[in-house]
This record gives sequence, C-alpha cells and structure tokens, in this order.
Amino acid sequence: MIRVSNLVKSFGDLRAVDDLSFAVGPGEIFGLLGPNGAGKTTTISVLSTLLPADAGSASVCGHDVAAEPGAVRRRIGVVPQELALYEELTAEQNLATFGQLYGLSGPRLKSRVGELLELAELAEHARRPVKGFSGGMKRRLNIMLGLVHAPDILFLDEPTVGIDAQARSRILDLIRSMNARGLTVLYTTHYLEEAEHLCDRIGVIDHGRLAALGDKEELIRQIGEHDVVRVQVPAAALAPAAAAAAAWPDVTFADLRRGKLEIHCRDGAALLPRLQAELSAGGLGLDQLEVIRPNLESLYLKITGRALRE
Ligand SMILES: Nc1ncnc2c1ncn2[C@@H]1O[C@H](COP(=O)(O)OP(=O)(O)OP(=O)(O)O)[C@@H](O)[C@H]1O
Ligand SMILES: [Mg+2]
Repeated sequence: MIRVSNLVKSFGDLRAVDDLSFAVGPGEIFGLLGPNGAGKTTTISVLSTLLPADAGSASVCGHDVAAEPGAVRRRIGVVPQELALYEELTAEQNLATFGQLYGLSGPRLKSRVGELLELAELAEHARRPVKGFSGGMKRRLNIMLGLVHAPDILFLDEPTVGIDAQARSRILDLIRSMNARGLTVLYTTHYLEEAEHLCDRIGVIDHGRLAALGDKEELIRQIGEHDVVRVQVPAAALAPAAAAAAAWPDVTFADLRRGKLEIHCRDGAALLPRLQAELSAGGLGLDQLEVIRPNLESLYLKITGRALRE
C-alpha cells in the first residue's frame, strides 16, 4: 500500500528526511515513531503529495506520488497534526463541508456524515458548534474529516497530542475499529506505548533516518537487547551457578546482583528448563524467579540515544 525508497527531503542545509525506506502492507497499522523534529510530518507531507521529494521515490496504492498525485490523493485520507476544523460550524456541517469538497452530495453525503458521527460517538453532539467541544471530541472529529471519502489509507499525524488518557484510549479504539474494517493506517507518534499497543510494525525514525524497523520482537532482536532472568538461590550455590550459567550458549552475562543470580540472554523463557535442570542436579529448586523482557522504552532510548527532545 505504501512504498518508500531512499527518500530525501531537505529544507536548506537540514536533511529532514534522509534516505528513508520502508513499506506498508494492506490492512497494516504502521507506526512511524520518533522524537520532535525526527521528520515524521515531512514524510507524511511527501506521501500525501503536499511536498515534492528531493531524491528517492514513494508510491501509494501503486501510484507514484510525484507522477500521479491525483490518483494518490483519491486513495488517501490525511489527519494533520494541527486541528483543521471550522470552529464556528457544527460537527455535522464540518463533515458535510469536507464531503462536498470530495464531490459527495445528496443522500450519499447525508448517510456518510451520519455514519462517521456514529463511529466517532459524536452523533448526539452533531448539531453543536465545534468551538464548544472538548479536546478529545475535536480530535475525533478531525480524524473523521480525513475519512469522509472512504479512503484506503489514512495518514494520522500525532492524533492524540494534548488530550487526556481517557480521550486518547477512545481514539486508539476508534483507529482499531476502522482498521478492522480494512483501513490501512500510517500513524506517527512520539508516545512509545501507543506505538507498542496499536501498531503491527514500527519504524523508529530520528534525524530523518530510519533507526530500526519491524514488529516489537524484531526491534528487540535488531538492537540486541536481552532478557534478564533473576533467580534466588542459596548463598553457597550462587557463585558456582553463576560460573556454570556464564558458559551457556546465548548467555551474555551471568553474575550475582543484589543477592540473586542474574542472567542476561536473548531468550529467557528458553533458558528456564536448563536452569531448572542445573539447579535440581545440585539439589536446589528454582525460587523467586523473574524474567524481565526488554520494553520498547529502553530500545527507543538506546536507538535515539536520548530521552524525548522538545
Ligand atoms: N517548512 C519547513 N521549513 C524549514 N524546516 C522545516 C520545515 N518543516 C520541517 N522543518 C524541519 O525539519 C525537521 C523535521 O520536521 P518534521 O516536522 O518533519 O518533524 P516531526 O517528526 O514531525 O516532529 P514533531 O514531532 O515535532 O511534529 C525539523 O528540524 C523541522 O524544524
Ligand atoms: Mg510532526
């Protein structure tokens, strides 16, 4: 549905998008995750034909964005990072106005507007001017404006910025339900937990470059993060157990930490039978065992080398 190949976009001396490549398949929710200024919006602008690329290429639904911008635009919906609503108009009027821009009219327009208001859980507020809406309601309506013409792909640029946790989770549910109806989604965010919970695959982007790409497990493998297994063993057995474990394949670290045996390895779960066998051979049981999987947060910090920039 989306193919990006060695894309470059500069503003003066600044390479906002720097040799970026990725692809998104039908029905996927693909997350472009990166800190402020990473190049997320610039990428969306090129894909949605608003900005020309300097080098490389991109296609959407098989149409090259530079050669066939009209064909691309008919297939995509774009939800911009900044709210783009008519504050004085009602929710219904906002949707109808956008629908007319896309050539809808009469009963088709009316039924589409009604359907989208229902989806966004805004039907009971349909006739209220948008200026009285909460931040979450405005964000939901903003998303619906990108869907009026029933696109195949929706570009969502940080659609949950500035709203509370409850409003955010309603928006994520809304995106999931639209995805379940077949919509392909390109989602940008700097919220790790959103990308982790919502997206099938994630591209981590920083300084315009792709730092990592894949589902969560693939990202973990690419970055070489390890599981941490911690187990309580009697004091006398700690040192020999650590020495034995250090020699196992796949183990990168085995030593005593805070009175426990700590083992770092790629696959903690796969290590457990061996650990159990080893300990029970010495007459010991597995006690107070924990396996800590790496999370995306630690990966993200490792990839971008810093906390989120403002
Ligand atoms: N029209 C422009 N003119 C000059 N520089 C720009 C322009 N648009 C973006 N930039 C710069 O390009 C870089 C990437 O910006 P972009 O908006 O794509 O980042 P982003 O990942 O969307 O960030 P944010 O999370 O803050 O929205 C930034 O350094 C930004 O200042
Ligand atoms: Mg942006």
